[in-house]
Amino acid sequence: MTLKLTLAGLFVCGCLMSSGAESAVIAINAAKAGPEINPRMYGIFLEEINHGVDGGLYGELVRNRAFEDSRPPEGYTFQNGKWRNPGGFDSGFTRFGYTTNGVPFWSVIQSGSAKATMQIETAGGITPESAYCLRVDAEPSANGRAGVANEGFFGIGVRKGEKYHLSLHARGGESFKAPLIVRLEDANGAACSDEVKFDAIGADWQKFERVITGSKTDSKARLVIEVGAKGSVWLDFVSLFPAKTWKNRPNGLRSDIAEMIAGLHPGFVRFPGGCVVEAGSVETAYNWKLTVGPVERRQERWGPWNYRRTQGMGLFEYLQFCEDLGAEPLYVGFAGQTCIFRSPQLVPMDDMGWVRDNILDVVQYADGAASSHWGELRSKAGHPAPFNLKLLEIGNENQGPEFERRYNFIHDTVTTNYPDLQCLADLSWTDHGSMQRNTRFDIEDSHHYESPRWFATGFNMYDKRDRKLAPLYLGELAVTTPDAGDLRGNMRAALSEGVFLMGCERNADVVRMVSYAPLLANVDGRTELINAPPPWHAMIYFDGTRVFGTASYYLWKLFGASRPAHTVQTDVSFPDAKSVLVSGQIGVGTWADTAEFKDIKVEKDGQTLFESDFLTNAAGWTAEAGRWSVTNGVYRQGHQGQGFSYFGNENWSDYTLTLKAKNTGGAEGFLIIFGRKNGERYWWNLGGYGNTLHEIEFNQALVGSSVRAKIERDRWYDIKVQVSGARIRCYLDGQLIHDAVVPRPQKFFAVAGQCDNELIVKAINLGSETLSAKLNLTNLNLDSKKAQMTVLTSADLADNNSLTEPTKVQPVETSVSIEGKDFSHEFPANSLTVLRLKTR
Ligand code: AHR
Repeated sequence: MTLKLTLAGLFVCGCLMSSGAESAVIAINAAKAGPEINPRMYGIFLEEINHGVDGGLYGELVRNRAFEDSRPPEGYTFQNGKWRNPGGFDSGFTRFGYTTNGVPFWSVIQSGSAKATMQIETAGGITPESAYCLRVDAEPSANGRAGVANEGFFGIGVRKGEKYHLSLHARGGESFKAPLIVRLEDANGAACSDEVKFDAIGADWQKFERVITGSKTDSKARLVIEVGAKGSVWLDFVSLFPAKTWKNRPNGLRSDIAEMIAGLHPGFVRFPGGCVVEAGSVETAYNWKLTVGPVERRQERWGPWNYRRTQGMGLFEYLQFCEDLGAEPLYVGFAGQTCIFRSPQLVPMDDMGWVRDNILDVVQYADGAASSHWGELRSKAGHPAPFNLKLLEIGNENQGPEFERRYNFIHDTVTTNYPDLQCLADLSWTDHGSMQRNTRFDIEDSHHYESPRWFATGFNMYDKRDRKLAPLYLGELAVTTPDAGDLRGNMRAALSEGVFLMGCERNADVVRMVSYAPLLANVDGRTELINAPPPWHAMIYFDGTRVFGTASYYLWKLFGASRPAHTVQTDVSFPDAKSVLVSGQIGVGTWADTAEFKDIKVEKDGQTLFESDFLTNAAGWTAEAGRWSVTNGVYRQGHQGQGFSYFGNENWSDYTLTLKAKNTGGAEGFLIIFGRKNGERYWWNLGGYGNTLHEIEFNQALVGSSVRAKIERDRWYDIKVQVSGARIRCYLDGQLIHDAVVPRPQKFFAVAGQCDNELIVKAINLGSETLSAKLNLTNLNLDSKKAQMTVLTSADLADNNSLTEPTKVQPVETSVSIEGKDFSHEFPANSLTVLRLKTR
């Protein structure tokens, strides 16, 4: 087996405990201060994925505004029917409506006897960067209109009464006299805005602009450009922008989405990616120099998430957004190795100069004097003052010695030129030891897309981190397994992420920064790696006119808003905790092998509960996967791979299971199952992890400790597993290998900290019943008999918000009375509670 978990947080395992509400004691000692928490600990990671930026945060409503979407992905060639990178990786170009011989996201309008055609021209556009343009040949009639329409990003979102800035570039063919008539329409052709007319279209490119007003709210409108009389007309850079952008920035952001982000009060913004930085080809790797200056002069690029980036939200706009949010920018630069999940390409070492310079120059663009080469460009864009870029990540999820060489090449020059920068390196997918030995970085970035169980076991994850290592930035965190719901981020995901964040706060000396990923998704624009469904999720979802945050959004928001300056010692105990009873069926199985089993016997208190004969069949056994058969008293799993078979009563407990087992093929040993109940199971995994370890596991999470050992092929072993209460003893050939006690599953967690005469207590109850806890506060003086309380809870862990129920799950704030420094409090099922108590 290759999946490795630990048992510390088996919160979903109701079967382990007898039911009944628990009680807890939370002892908080304010005299014992823990680590300081970085004031900028909670930030965001903003990447162009899921149409989060184009088709989302960035205000542009017209898709393929510059008609560049018919360009093939840069650095990819057409091979076997697909646009592939040199390593054969499929760009996903045709998957979402892109084509090189059509006009993606535009359509012809013709009704009655009117006629229209449209065609891409690959030269002659308004600028060299926007070289493609659209030719429209129209012949309207008395009973019909002719023209083209743009569908926007899964529909154009228009709101009644709101104003939109419409602009387009047009030039007419010989003796073209017709007006262009432009308006927003719904799916049935009814107007969603007033109509504007552009006359006097000449033979040269000219920009036409007007403000239109929404007459109806519709998230799926389209922009129709009607040609008023017969003729040919060329269009380029057709744009529709909300007149009011967030903070009224030109070329700005959609206010409702930006407001949701601002609601998180992020301490920092990591941008622009992610995989967007590395991309699937060197030509499409993020190059900020193509993203600055007038939008018509920016070079669009194919992105790694199966769509083209307009670069409308370019480096300047990202930095401006950081400033407007009050957040510190954290720029991630391409480091010469493209994405490791997309047949990676390397920039040859002797060509790495431009890669290094792009990273050097970004610092000058952001922070250099207005008189410097790149600083001047920033100043001309309207920001003479520096943006204060001090956090620089070299590469994203890169890997291997070739990356280390490139990292060092960049890092050495950057730190020589900018000694006050903090450099981050992402060690998520590379050899930690090697990076730690061979490179230097100030902060280690580490990404975790995992299950609720993984996150809920994270309370102690960093307790034992070597404090001599670089501190951590956990840059991409999220529950991604299906139990987090289709959108991910449901209450189950949120609360388990919360337990993990508590663990980060407890270890805030090593975990300096955290961010969720991905942040944004257009509900219709969720993207994915090729061959790697399901689609990506987000914390904030939207369509053309609506936006909502998931349960995870509200949990992270609450954590960010409830960050103390430092933690204080917080011990949680469970005085009347009930102990675990290991009970359930027995079974045998394999993970990657074929195996045989015989002489299976279950005994309890001197009585035999079961004894196998396997002469003619395996009566009473239930197989799950594998190919099971019996021959001469032997029960055989003959398919090399996973196979399990179970027998017995789910209430069996305190028994001894004995049998003989033999591995007959494959890479590992075999599995001896016990305590199987309600689909959950313990097993003794012998020769697990490529035949390197024996270990007891519950639902594949480690119980006790593993032992380094192998299973020999074609050899019968004598096995004994003894369960009594919570204790499990495993013997191999008469030798005791494991003696483990199953820990009580922890469902309740608390942390506390202080700041500004306040004690902030956060508690998560993952249980399905209210938990009553006694809080015992020492070494502090309360200043009030009231505490402010915020609770995030919902009846069902599967609950989440949606477009139609955007606030089904959201925190509720009240106040509670406190009777002195020892008081009791009821923590609801499935909840995060934040208590803020005034202190003197
Ligand atoms: O968050 C989505 C992607 O996940 C990021 O682009 C990448 O860094 C990671 O693999």
